Amino acid sequence: MIAPKLDQRLQAAADLVRPCDTAADIGCDHGKLSAYLACTGRARRVIAADLRPGPLSTARKTCEEAGCLEKVELRLGDGLSVLAPGEAQAVVIAGVSAQTTIEMLTAAPWVRNEGTQLVLIPATKAPVLRRWLWENGFLLNAERLVCAAHRWYAVMDAVYTGTVRQPTDAECLLGLTQEQPGAAEYRAQQVSRLKKFRRGLDQDPEAARRADALLRQLEGEG
Ligand SMILES: C[S@@+](CC[C@H](N)C(=O)[O-])C[C@H]1O[C@@H](n2cnc3c(N)ncnc32)[C@H](O)[C@@H]1O
Repeated sequence: MIAPKLDQRLQAAADLVRPCDTAADIGCDHGKLSAYLACTGRARRVIAADLRPGPLSTARKTCEEAGCLEKVELRLGDGLSVLAPGEAQAVVIAGVSAQTTIEMLTAAPWVRNEGTQLVLIPATKAPVLRRWLWENGFLLNAERLVCAAHRWYAVMDAVYTGTVRQPTDAECLLGLTQEQPGAAEYRAQQVSRLKKFRRGLDQDPEAARRADALLRQLEGEG
């Protein structure tokens, strides 16, 4: 078996996946992460799933070429609906929006089973996903920062504990990233996005007040 080379984003996700019996790669697309997890033995078995048949056949080809197809099960379907409750001990959802990630997790209450690991790379709106995780009893164990195509992404490692937190806006914006390599660049990206968001809030004085307060806090700290 020859594991495919991963980009930095997917390598960070793979590095966070704890060794397990079964990992699921939801929205697997090209299937490189699935093949990597199978080839390296990080998971004994991998379920590679996608909503669309085209990506799934590309994933099959990737796994055939890597020589790991017998360890990978390809499944067509929406989000985590392709999994039986508790079937995977590690679930990776990478490259879809925060909202889609939240919808997938909400539709699969079994992800709250003890020890189920979630490795998440939202393509957009990481602060929305952090807030949802904390307000719904998930613990963020770690975040890694990676830069791809001039954008910074947060790679999140989360697990359900049942402890609900009401995070501040600053915590949602930056998460656990500030001790990581790339922290200053990520912070600058998030502040710049917040400023852009603020410009659209003239009709919403309460949201504008919150955004201004957050900007003052971040610029005061920065
Ligand atoms: C941008 S690609 C990301 C591929 C890979 N995970 C990565 O991060 O490089 C997003 C993939 O998610 C799939 N997808 C989108 N919504 C989905 C859903 N509700 N359930 C399963 N797959 C979905 C798309 O078909 C696409 O192949």
